[in-house]
Amino acid sequence: MPRLFLSPPDVGPRERELLLDAFDSNWIAPLGPHVDAFEREFAGFVGAGHAAALSSGTAALHLALVLLGVGPGDDVLVPSLTFAATAFAVTYVGARPVFVDSERATWNLDPELVEEELAARARTGRDQPAALIGVDLYGQCASWDPILASCAAHGVPVIEDAAEALGATYRGRAAGSFGALNVFSFNGNKIITTSGGGMLVGNDPAVIERARHLSTQARDPAPHYEHTEIGFNYRMSNLLAALGRGQLEGLPAKVARRRAINAAYRAALAEVDGIGFLPDAPDGEPTNWLTVITVDDPTTVREHLEALDIEARPAWKPMHLQPVFAGCEMRGGAVAEEIFRTGLCLPSGSAMTDADIARVVDGVLAAR
Ligand SMILES: Cc1ncc(COP(=O)(O)O)c(C=O)c1O
Repeated sequence: MPRLFLSPPDVGPRERELLLDAFDSNWIAPLGPHVDAFEREFAGFVGAGHAAALSSGTAALHLALVLLGVGPGDDVLVPSLTFAATAFAVTYVGARPVFVDSERATWNLDPELVEEELAARARTGRDQPAALIGVDLYGQCASWDPILASCAAHGVPVIEDAAEALGATYRGRAAGSFGALNVFSFNGNKIITTSGGGMLVGNDPAVIERARHLSTQARDPAPHYEHTEIGFNYRMSNLLAALGRGQLEGLPAKVARRRAINAAYRAALAEVDGIGFLPDAPDGEPTNWLTVITVDDPTTVREHLEALDIEARPAWKPMHLQPVFAGCEMRGGAVAEEIFRTGLCLPSGSAMTDADIARVVDGVLAAR
């Protein structure tokens, strides 16, 4: 039987058609009409004003911090339970990540701990963080209303890392519409992919235009190469934007399929003693980008699945436990540590068949 991957790309004839259109038009290097169209269509989907197509989600995070003026000596609040790119970006601008634990309801930033951190700083006269990056993990939005209220009260700008949550909603609003700047990833394992790519989304046209400028080496208007500030080579190519447009057209079906896969896993496993699931938060509609179960011994289950040629992966290892972030501040930590100790991501790709799901379920049950 073929190997079952965690979340492989799901592309079809429409993507091929658009990619060949880009190729045949010779808009290869690097920008072109598909980039403009992808940005427009993407901003429309998220319900945001403007979008800049970039080379990765990590690049979008880095630029978001640059655009907010975060720099050396600043603190940035970041959830500990996330992929390392969220925290890495903070270090690119010379700032320090300050980690915050998750809440049980969403596995995302605990709004009470965010308020505790900001209130403690206000009380003691310590500088507030220069930004907060909230993450929508595994296709589910953070509890944005209380987080945004705390940040507004203490004057802290918010970046939303919606890399894993395109298509999710919170209280009727789309993931990637809550921050001053919002980040998406089209990495190969995401719900839509451009093989590698990202998007920075926001409502201020001048800020997004500046993102485009900075991401193309900050070249000033002049016949020669003139630069008054430091730039980056972070733009998405026209070929990849063509692929992205095809993927975006198929997004509703991909979201529906990931939700159906999650429902099938729940139907088969939720009643089994000792198996839990990443909760679906009451305030939102997740995409179930990855279905994550919790078990006492995820290693045994993972190794059993691996022997069956099924890829499963531990939940994110919290940043405060990562050697590279030893010594960083951490508020709380028990929830993220428990999720890491018990969490296991199951294959969730939108091209999975019902037989594939049954194969994973049988493997999980046999491992226990
Ligand atoms: C939460 C989160 N943030 C950021 C990223 C970085 O995105 P990219 O791989 O496109 O740089 C990813 C995924 O890779 C992610 O899962």
